[in-house]
Amino acid sequence: MLSGPTRPSIGTTFPPLRDDVVDAAVIGGGVIGLATAWRLAQRDLRVAVIDPSPGSGASFVAGGMLGGVAETGFAEADAASTHVVARDSWDPFLAELSATIGRPLPYAAPGTVMVGFDRSDAQAIDHLVTFQRNLGLPGRPVDRGELDVLVPGLGRSVRSGYFLDRDAAVDNRAVVVALIEAATTLGVCGVSENCTSITATRSGLTVTTTEGQLHASSVVVATGAAPLPALPDATSAPAIYPVGGVILRLEPLRDVQTPAVVVRSVVRGRPLYLVPRPDGSLVLGATAVERGFDVAVHVSDLHQLLDDGRMLLPFLDECGVLDVMTGLRPTTPDHRPIVGATTTPGLYLALGHYRNGFLLAPATAEHLASLVASHGAGR
Ligand code: GLY
Repeated sequence: MLSGPTRPSIGTTFPPLRDDVVDAAVIGGGVIGLATAWRLAQRDLRVAVIDPSPGSGASFVAGGMLGGVAETGFAEADAASTHVVARDSWDPFLAELSATIGRPLPYAAPGTVMVGFDRSDAQAIDHLVTFQRNLGLPGRPVDRGELDVLVPGLGRSVRSGYFLDRDAAVDNRAVVVALIEAATTLGVCGVSENCTSITATRSGLTVTTTEGQLHASSVVVATGAAPLPALPDATSAPAIYPVGGVILRLEPLRDVQTPAVVVRSVVRGRPLYLVPRPDGSLVLGATAVERGFDVAVHVSDLHQLLDDGRMLLPFLDECGVLDVMTGLRPTTPDHRPIVGATTTPGLYLALGHYRNGFLLAPATAEHLASLVASHGAGR
């Protein structure tokens, strides 16, 4: 999940908080924080989201892929069932969200194709699919004829691949807007500032922002790759670091059929994906570079992405470029999210979702909402 150099606006935000006391404060308005705020408000808690511009960071740039199987690589064997359960939780999550806001929120892509660009890339994909099959996550083999239907315009070097019918994608920006709307209908308010510290008091927690303070029974820290606020002495700060990446958004082509499914590939040893959007635009991603908080688009990254993309999908040459963004995936040293209670009563973390912010958001939000409710926020 990625974020851009200047924070773009998602076009909607929360009404401002008028009080300085809430039941729960959520620090960070990305998909994890927003989903958590919505779930907390459904439990009749007074909730505030603290973020200068909710929905404009990593969640704005993300591919929105729900790679329950595709994101289960060799290092994630123990997360396989979590990924699949999280992916399947999107059916009811989208239905509920869509019913709440009163407009449809369809999947952006109904499945995923995995293909290798050349013979050795195909070998790498075969190896991964065999590993996934051994975990009980079988990709269905597809031949070139079926690939031509699923992925029109695929380069001639690809001979076969695999189809994952449940690994869909969502329109990341539409989901974020919907979450803000849904949470707002339940009274969630916003504080358009950065949180600088959280301190424990006798009666709960004090959240200090760049402009003021508010008091909360519970606080959920969901700050993505951004620097963490200072935490109470009793809570050791987790190690979260950014992994940057470049994505391109491409204009739909007139009169040219483009893939309706997510395409995940290895191209000359490098991972690549293409995600269709409901409006016909295409997201091409993503590099993975560790340059700290640098979100400049480096020519070398852009070159790599375009070069690999054009090799795999030659029709990309004719697409217009809508935007190019570098972003920051929030990760931990072992690439596992940190979700749950801390040693400070009432303080919870929802951090380090790395490549899987959208995939894991409903599951993380539900888990945190039940933890916070059992702590008794608001009593
Ligand atoms: N999940 C896609 C990415 O991290 O690039």
